[in-house]
Amino acid sequence: MMNAQLQNPITMPIDKLSRPLHDLRVSVIEACNFRCPYCMPADKTPDDTILQNAARLSFEQIEQAVKAFVKLGVRKVRLTGGEPLLRKNLPELVKRLSRISGLEDIALTTNGSLLEKQAFALKQAGLHRLTVSLDALDADIFSQLSGGRGQVRDVLSGIEAAESAGFDSLKINAVIQRGINENQVLPLVEKFRGTRHVLRFIEFMDVGNCNNWSMQDVVPSKELQSLIHGLWPLEPVSANYRGEVASRYRFVDGTGEIGFVSSVSEPFCGDCHRARLSADGHVYTCLFAGKGHDIRSELADGDVALHEKLSRLWMNRADRYSELRHAQAKQGKKIEMYFIGG
Ligand code: GTP
Ligand code: 5AD
Ligand code: SF4
Ligand code: SF4
Repeated sequence: MMNAQLQNPITMPIDKLSRPLHDLRVSVIEACNFRCPYCMPADKTPDDTILQNAARLSFEQIEQAVKAFVKLGVRKVRLTGGEPLLRKNLPELVKRLSRISGLEDIALTTNGSLLEKQAFALKQAGLHRLTVSLDALDADIFSQLSGGRGQVRDVLSGIEAAESAGFDSLKINAVIQRGINENQVLPLVEKFRGTRHVLRFIEFMDVGNCNNWSMQDVVPSKELQSLIHGLWPLEPVSANYRGEVASRYRFVDGTGEIGFVSSVSEPFCGDCHRARLSADGHVYTCLFAGKGHDIRSELADGDVALHEKLSRLWMNRADRYSELRHAQAKQGKKIEMYFIGG
C-alpha cells in the first residue's frame, strides 16, 4: 500500500499546536477614514503615522505571497485594512486573486462607508463574500463610534448597493461596548432579522496598545444571547467549518441567523488556522502578536525562498494569546488592529 506521504507529495505544514494553515487575512492598507475608539483612537493615531504608499506591497507582491500561502494550505483569503476600500484599484487585486488556482474563497471586511460606489466592481472582479462593520443604527452613536468621521446612512447605502450588486448574504459585524452601544443590540437584531444577512456581535478585544481596553467594557456574548433570546428565541447551529470564529444561532421562528464572536469570554485558539499579512509585508501569526516577520526580501528572492520562510514561520508558531489573556494581562507591545485588519 502507498503511504500517505507518497499519495500526497506536498506536505502541508502544521504549527507547534498541530494546527494547519487555512486562512490568510491580507491588510491592503493601514489607513482608515474612521477613527473608531476601539481600534484607532484619533488622539493616539494622528494621520502622520500612516505609512507612505511606497512602503505598501504592490498587487504583484500580494499575489505572489497569496500564491505561496495557497501552496502551504491556505484556501480562504480575507482582504482587510485599515479600510481596504481606500486602496486604489482594489478590484484589480481581487481579479488577480480570483485567478489563483486552489484559492476557494475571497472575502473582504469593510466599514461600508465607501461601498456604495465600489460594490458592483468588486462583485464583477470576483469577490465572493462581504462583511460590513456596523456598530449602531442611531446616527449620533454611530458618528461617535467612528470618531466623528462616519455617517450611518452611508453604510446603509453601501449595504443596499452590495445587495443590488448580487452579494446575497452579507455578514454584519457589531462590536458592543458596555454603556456605549448596548442599546443598539436589539435595534440591530430587528433590522437584520428576516433578511439573508448574518449579524454578528463581537466582544470588545484588547488588541493593540491604544484602545484603553478594560474587562469592564466587555459585554459577554452570553449576556447578549439571553437578551435576544428573551424577545426572539434562538437555537444553536453547528459551525460552518472547524475553527469558525463566530458561534452560530438561528431564530426559532425561521427568520434567519446571528452569530457571536466571543474571543474574550470563550477563546477559540485551539483551532486557529489564520495567518495575517500586513500592508507593509510582515506576517503575523496571531492577532495579538508583538512582532511580525518581514517577508519582503523573500518576495524579492523568489518563490523558493518565500515558500521556505512561510513554512518555517508556520511550523514555529505556538500562539494562543486569547487562552492566556488573563495570565498575560500586563504584557508588552502588541500590533495595532489597523495594521492587520482584525
Ligand atoms: P468568516 O468566518 O470567513 O466569515 O470571517 P471572520 O468572521 O473570520 O471575519 P471578520 O473579519 O468578520 O472577523 C470577525 C471578528 O473576529 C473580528 O473582530 C476579528 O478581529 C475577529 N477575529 C477574526 N479572527 C480572529 C482570530 O483569529 N482571533 C481573534 N481573537 N479574533 C479574531
Ligand atoms: N475588538 C473587537 N473587534 C474589533 N474590531 C476592530 N477593533 C476591535 C476590537 N478592539 C473589529 C471591527 C471589524 C473587525 C475586522 O474587527 O469592527 O468588524
Ligand atoms: Fe477603521 Fe475598521 Fe479600525 Fe474602525 S475598526 S478605525 S473602520 S479599521
Ligand atoms: Fe488565533 Fe491568536 Fe486569535 Fe488565538 S488569539 S484565535 S491564536 S489569532
